[in-house]
Amino acid sequence: DLGTSAVKLLLMEGSGKICNIVSKEYPLFFPHPGWSEQNPEDWFTQSIEGIKELTEGIDRKEVAGIGFGGQMHGLVTLDKDDNVIRPAILWNDGRTGEETEYLNTVIGKEKLSQYTANIAFAGFTAPKILWMQKHEPENFKKVVKIMLPKDYLAYRLSGSFCTDVSDASGMLLLDVKNRCWSKEVCDTLDIDMSMLGKVYESCEVTGKVTKKMAELTGLKEGTIVVGGAGDNAAAAIGTGVAEDGKAFTTIGTSGVVFAHTSSISIDPKGRVHTCCAAVPNAWHVMGVTQGAGLSLKWFRDNFCNAEKETAKCMGVDEYYLMDKEAEKVPVGANRLLYLPYLMGERTPHLDPDARGVFFGLSAMHTKRDMLRAVMEGVSYSLRDCVEVFREMDINVSDMMACGGGGSSPLWRSMLADLYNCPVKTASSKEGPALGVALLAATGAGIYSSVPEACKAVVKTDKVQQPEAERVPEYEKYYKLYTEIYPALKAEFAKLAKM
Ligand code: XUL
Repeated sequence: DLGTSAVKLLLMEGSGKICNIVSKEYPLFFPHPGWSEQNPEDWFTQSIEGIKELTEGIDRKEVAGIGFGGQMHGLVTLDKDDNVIRPAILWNDGRTGEETEYLNTVIGKEKLSQYTANIAFAGFTAPKILWMQKHEPENFKKVVKIMLPKDYLAYRLSGSFCTDVSDASGMLLLDVKNRCWSKEVCDTLDIDMSMLGKVYESCEVTGKVTKKMAELTGLKEGTIVVGGAGDNAAAAIGTGVAEDGKAFTTIGTSGVVFAHTSSISIDPKGRVHTCCAAVPNAWHVMGVTQGAGLSLKWFRDNFCNAEKETAKCMGVDEYYLMDKEAEKVPVGANRLLYLPYLMGERTPHLDPDARGVFFGLSAMHTKRDMLRAVMEGVSYSLRDCVEVFREMDINVSDMMACGGGGSSPLWRSMLADLYNCPVKTASSKEGPALGVALLAATGAGIYSSVPEACKAVVKTDKVQQPEAERVPEYEKYYKLYTEIYPALKAEFAKLAKM
């Protein structure tokens, strides 16, 4: 799992037993405000070191298969000799405002949605390619191959130039409905289709470990490599979200609500992404809230120094203490609401100018009320994603919770009450890395299908049921929450121009 701060490597037995986990960090560069880049060579060297450490003490020749997953949307470009042309431009890079605007207005949201099932977001790959065409024409002239971050690793290991349907869905170049490149979009953007790798399903075998890489890692030459998946599609497999009705919520820095769908479903307003799932012939929809765990971290870092000190003395996690504090406050935080738009918002507002708000502050409120309001506000914004799903006729009856925030019992209970369905955790916390291992095991023939692999390996742990008396209470506050952003939309735009 090629993350933004580290690569996480996981070794799994055919039975699903996790034998070892290794994490290797690499730097992230911000060469200009809003830019975010990494060196693909760093990913490669750290992954090779990681593979060696991960497989220390086992017979490396027994490894049946490898899969790659990780950060989506990044742009990696190679020249005719397979040299990386410039540092990779990552998913959280914000330089492509103009290109995104061009795609959504000149080509138009309707056409983009018809061809690719999505509209343009600054983080997607296609706007990055347009940026490179315009701002680095000399570099762009050299481009022979365009790839996503995890596909670069697979290419170095197997020599196979390819991608998988789930990750490719985040490029805005894939015909997501037909699971192939969109000729219309490539032609319109002047992207030669030979620059794009062959598209595979996530569990399909795409190549084999080369002799050179076998010598470097100790693995057997010819060990199979599978298509793998983008981190969210991989997390779905690792949490068992592989059939209709199943979904997961991640509360990491950002928050993601992800639902599996056996038929393609597109939001005409473009508020959620529609992607191919890592399960063949299936799709998923994904809503993203930009400031989820980030909101709580922001609150902790600015207002909770005392709690940090107490947690240190008690030898407990500071978030655990904050959870306990927030638990003492009733639903609705004593009539205080919080809008978590610290970094603008994707779902449902698609508004980079939106900003955070405390609504209803009075002299009676304490820090504890504000803390609870922050956690509730993030939960309301995640409920917004589920509301978009409902409009699209995607009903969620089984929700898994993951990410750092998913380990908070209070946050899980807020989600259960707001979604009005049970919220569960998986017995393993290794969502994306485990998901990719299951894809590799399926490709190696150990499981007959991806859902079969999920059923055999992924077990649920804790289950939080909605509380009948809290549901209508939250409903009242959620309704008010949905009325605050529209009332402030114009003011957010004015503030951005000041
Ligand atoms: C999904 C997204 C992130 C990245 C980084 O649209 O931007 O989840 O995949 O992990």
